[in-house]
Amino acid sequence: MPTLSGLWALWQQFFPPAPAFTERDVGSGSQVGKVFVITGANSGIGLSLVKLLYPTGATIYLAGRSPIKLQAAIAEVDSALPSPTTPSNLKSLFLDLSNLETIEPAAALFAAQETRLDILWNNAGNGCPPGSVTKQGIEAHVGANCVAPLLFTQELLPMLRAV
Ligand SMILES: NC(=O)c1ccc[n+]([C@@H]2O[C@H](COP(=O)([O-])OP(=O)(O)OC[C@H]3O[C@@H](n4cnc5c(N)ncnc54)[C@H](OP(=O)(O)O)[C@@H]3O)[C@@H](O)[C@H]2O)c1
Repeated sequence: MPTLSGLWALWQQFFPPAPAFTERDVGSGSQVGKVFVITGANSGIGLSLVKLLYPTGATIYLAGRSPIKLQAAIAEVDSALPSPTTPSNLKSLFLDLSNLETIEPAAALFAAQETRLDILWNNAGNGCPPGSVTKQGIEAHVGANCVAPLLFTQELLPMLRAV
Protein backbone atom coordinates (compact mmCIF):
# COMPACT_ATOMS: atom_id res chain seq x y z
CA MET A 1 0.00 0.00 0.00
CA PRO A 2 1.63 3.31 -1.05
CA THR A 3 1.97 5.96 1.64
CA LEU A 4 0.65 9.51 1.26
CA SER A 5 4.22 10.88 1.02
CA GLY A 6 5.03 8.25 -1.62
CA LEU A 7 2.02 9.29 -3.69
CA TRP A 8 2.97 12.97 -3.29
CA ALA A 9 6.52 12.20 -4.50
CA LEU A 10 5.07 10.33 -7.48
CA TRP A 11 2.75 13.26 -8.27
CA GLN A 12 5.73 15.62 -8.26
CA GLN A 13 7.55 13.43 -10.74
CA PHE A 14 4.78 14.09 -13.25
CA PHE A 15 4.05 17.69 -12.22
CA PRO A 16 7.30 19.13 -10.86
CA PRO A 17 6.94 22.29 -8.78
CA ALA A 18 8.45 25.57 -10.00
CA PRO A 19 12.20 25.65 -9.27
CA ALA A 20 13.16 27.44 -6.05
CA PHE A 21 16.55 28.48 -7.46
CA THR A 22 16.88 29.92 -10.96
CA GLU A 23 19.24 32.08 -13.02
CA ARG A 24 17.68 35.12 -11.35
CA ASP A 25 19.42 33.98 -8.14
CA VAL A 26 22.84 34.08 -9.83
CA GLY A 27 23.40 37.78 -10.23
CA SER A 28 25.65 39.73 -12.55
CA GLY A 29 29.20 39.75 -11.18
CA SER A 30 28.29 37.38 -8.34
CA GLN A 31 30.90 34.72 -9.22
CA VAL A 32 33.99 36.87 -9.78
CA GLY A 33 37.08 34.92 -8.66
CA LYS A 34 35.34 31.56 -8.91
CA VAL A 35 36.43 28.84 -11.33
CA PHE A 36 34.09 26.35 -12.97
CA VAL A 37 34.55 23.37 -15.28
CA ILE A 38 31.65 22.21 -17.43
CA THR A 39 32.09 19.08 -19.53
CA GLY A 40 30.12 18.83 -22.76
CA ALA A 41 29.82 22.60 -22.73
CA ASN A 42 29.70 23.16 -26.48
CA SER A 43 26.03 22.24 -26.87
CA GLY A 44 22.75 21.53 -25.15
CA ILE A 45 22.48 21.84 -21.40
CA GLY A 46 26.20 22.52 -20.97
CA LEU A 47 26.15 25.46 -23.37
CA SER A 48 22.98 26.81 -21.78
CA LEU A 49 24.76 26.70 -18.42
CA VAL A 50 27.71 28.64 -19.87
CA LYS A 51 25.32 31.28 -21.19
CA LEU A 52 23.55 31.48 -17.83
CA LEU A 53 26.86 31.92 -15.97
CA TYR A 54 28.45 34.27 -18.52
CA PRO A 55 27.34 37.53 -16.82
CA THR A 56 28.61 36.36 -13.41
CA GLY A 57 32.30 37.17 -13.99
CA ALA A 58 33.61 33.65 -13.28
CA THR A 59 36.34 31.76 -15.10
CA ILE A 60 34.61 28.97 -16.98
CA TYR A 61 36.38 26.05 -18.63
CA LEU A 62 34.39 24.49 -21.44
CA ALA A 63 35.64 20.90 -21.55
CA GLY A 64 35.03 18.69 -24.55
CA ARG A 65 36.44 16.49 -27.25
CA SER A 66 36.22 18.92 -30.17
CA PRO A 67 38.45 22.00 -29.93
CA ILE A 68 36.68 23.45 -32.98
CA LYS A 69 33.24 23.08 -31.39
CA LEU A 70 34.52 24.49 -28.10
CA GLN A 71 35.96 27.55 -29.81
CA ALA A 72 32.73 28.05 -31.74
CA ALA A 73 30.75 27.88 -28.50
CA ILE A 74 33.07 30.40 -26.83
CA ALA A 75 32.78 32.74 -29.83
CA GLU A 76 29.00 32.38 -29.79
CA VAL A 77 28.74 33.30 -26.10
CA ASP A 78 31.40 36.02 -26.23
CA SER A 79 29.72 37.74 -29.16
CA ALA A 80 26.23 37.61 -27.68
CA LEU A 81 24.54 40.97 -27.24
CA PRO A 82 24.05 42.79 -24.99
CA SER A 83 27.51 42.37 -23.49
CA PRO A 84 27.37 41.98 -19.69
CA THR A 85 29.24 44.37 -17.40
CA THR A 86 31.24 41.52 -15.83
CA PRO A 87 31.64 38.89 -18.56
CA SER A 88 33.09 35.55 -17.54
CA ASN A 89 36.46 34.45 -18.83
CA LEU A 90 35.77 31.49 -21.13
CA LYS A 91 38.47 28.88 -21.81
CA SER A 92 38.49 25.54 -23.58
CA LEU A 93 39.85 22.29 -22.20
CA PHE A 94 40.37 19.20 -24.33
CA LEU A 95 38.83 16.11 -22.77
CA ASP A 96 37.62 13.00 -24.58
CA LEU A 97 35.59 10.89 -22.18
CA SER A 98 35.79 7.99 -24.62
CA ASN A 99 39.54 7.86 -24.18
CA LEU A 100 40.89 7.61 -20.64
CA GLU A 101 44.34 8.65 -21.87
CA THR A 102 43.05 12.24 -22.19
CA ILE A 103 41.73 12.56 -18.64
CA GLU A 104 44.89 13.02 -16.60
CA PRO A 105 46.44 15.46 -19.13
CA ALA A 106 43.21 17.51 -19.07
CA ALA A 107 43.26 17.71 -15.28
CA ALA A 108 46.99 18.52 -15.31
CA LEU A 109 46.50 21.30 -17.89
CA PHE A 110 43.72 22.75 -15.78
CA ALA A 111 45.81 22.57 -12.58
CA ALA A 112 48.68 24.31 -14.36
CA GLN A 113 46.44 27.30 -15.06
CA GLU A 114 44.27 27.54 -11.94
CA THR A 115 44.76 27.37 -8.17
CA ARG A 116 41.12 26.60 -7.36
CA LEU A 117 38.11 24.76 -8.69
CA ASP A 118 34.75 25.77 -7.25
CA ILE A 119 32.38 23.59 -9.23
CA LEU A 120 32.82 20.70 -11.65
CA TRP A 121 29.78 19.89 -13.76
CA ASN A 122 30.13 16.37 -15.19
CA ASN A 123 27.50 17.15 -17.79
CA ALA A 124 28.85 15.51 -20.98
CA GLY A 125 27.18 12.32 -22.04
CA ASN A 126 26.25 10.44 -25.13
CA GLY A 127 24.09 7.78 -26.62
CA CYS A 128 25.87 5.15 -28.71
CA PRO A 129 24.78 2.20 -30.83
CA PRO A 130 24.78 -1.16 -29.05
CA GLY A 131 28.21 -2.77 -29.05
CA SER A 132 30.12 0.54 -29.04
CA VAL A 133 33.22 0.67 -26.88
CA THR A 134 35.67 3.33 -25.74
CA LYS A 135 39.31 3.43 -26.82
CA GLN A 136 40.12 1.20 -23.84
CA GLY A 137 37.39 -1.30 -24.77
CA ILE A 138 34.90 -0.32 -22.07
CA GLU A 139 31.20 -0.39 -23.03
CA ALA A 140 30.70 3.10 -24.51
CA HIS A 141 28.05 4.45 -22.11
CA VAL A 142 29.73 3.07 -19.01
CA GLY A 143 33.09 4.36 -20.21
CA ALA A 144 32.12 7.89 -21.20
CA ASN A 145 29.26 8.52 -18.77
CA CYS A 146 30.66 6.82 -15.67
CA VAL A 147 34.30 5.68 -15.67
CA ALA A 148 35.85 8.74 -17.33
CA PRO A 149 33.89 11.33 -15.25
CA LEU A 150 34.82 9.42 -12.11
CA LEU A 151 38.49 9.50 -13.05
CA PHE A 152 38.30 13.19 -14.03
CA THR A 153 36.62 14.00 -10.71
CA GLN A 154 39.23 12.05 -8.77
CA GLU A 155 42.01 13.93 -10.56
CA LEU A 156 40.40 17.28 -9.66
CA LEU A 157 39.28 16.35 -6.15
CA PRO A 158 42.25 17.95 -4.36
CA MET A 159 41.44 21.30 -6.00
CA LEU A 160 37.74 20.94 -5.26
CA ARG A 161 38.45 20.09 -1.63
CA ALA A 162 40.87 23.00 -1.24
CA VAL A 163 38.19 25.64 -1.89
N1 LIG B 1 18.44 16.46 -22.76
C1 LIG B 1 17.81 15.49 -22.09
O1 LIG B 1 16.59 15.33 -22.15
C2 LIG B 1 18.59 14.54 -21.20
C3 LIG B 1 17.95 13.53 -20.54
C4 LIG B 1 18.67 12.67 -19.72
C5 LIG B 1 20.03 12.85 -19.58
N2 LIG B 1 20.66 13.85 -20.25
C6 LIG B 1 22.09 14.00 -20.05
O2 LIG B 1 22.40 15.36 -19.82
C7 LIG B 1 23.67 15.66 -20.41
C8 LIG B 1 23.52 16.82 -21.40
O3 LIG B 1 22.51 16.51 -22.32
P1 LIG B 1 22.26 17.39 -23.61
O4 LIG B 1 20.85 17.18 -24.01
O5 LIG B 1 22.74 18.78 -23.38
O6 LIG B 1 23.18 16.63 -24.66
P2 LIG B 1 23.95 17.15 -25.96
O7 LIG B 1 23.38 18.42 -26.49
O8 LIG B 1 24.02 15.97 -26.88
O9 LIG B 1 25.39 17.48 -25.41
C9 LIG B 1 26.22 16.46 -24.98
C10 LIG B 1 27.60 17.06 -24.79
O10 LIG B 1 28.45 16.01 -24.31
C11 LIG B 1 29.61 15.97 -25.13
N3 LIG B 1 30.16 14.64 -25.21
C12 LIG B 1 29.53 13.52 -25.61
N4 LIG B 1 30.38 12.49 -25.58
C13 LIG B 1 31.58 12.97 -25.16
C14 LIG B 1 32.85 12.41 -24.95
N5 LIG B 1 33.09 11.11 -25.19
N6 LIG B 1 33.85 13.19 -24.52
C15 LIG B 1 33.63 14.52 -24.28
N7 LIG B 1 32.45 15.12 -24.48
C16 LIG B 1 31.43 14.35 -24.92
C17 LIG B 1 29.12 16.43 -26.50
O11 LIG B 1 30.25 16.82 -27.26
P3 LIG B 1 30.25 16.68 -28.87
O12 LIG B 1 29.44 17.83 -29.39
O13 LIG B 1 31.69 16.77 -29.23
O14 LIG B 1 29.62 15.36 -29.21
C18 LIG B 1 28.21 17.57 -26.11
O15 LIG B 1 28.94 18.74 -25.85
C19 LIG B 1 24.14 14.39 -21.09
O16 LIG B 1 25.00 13.69 -20.20
C20 LIG B 1 22.88 13.62 -21.29
O17 LIG B 1 23.12 12.21 -21.33
C21 LIG B 1 19.98 14.69 -21.06
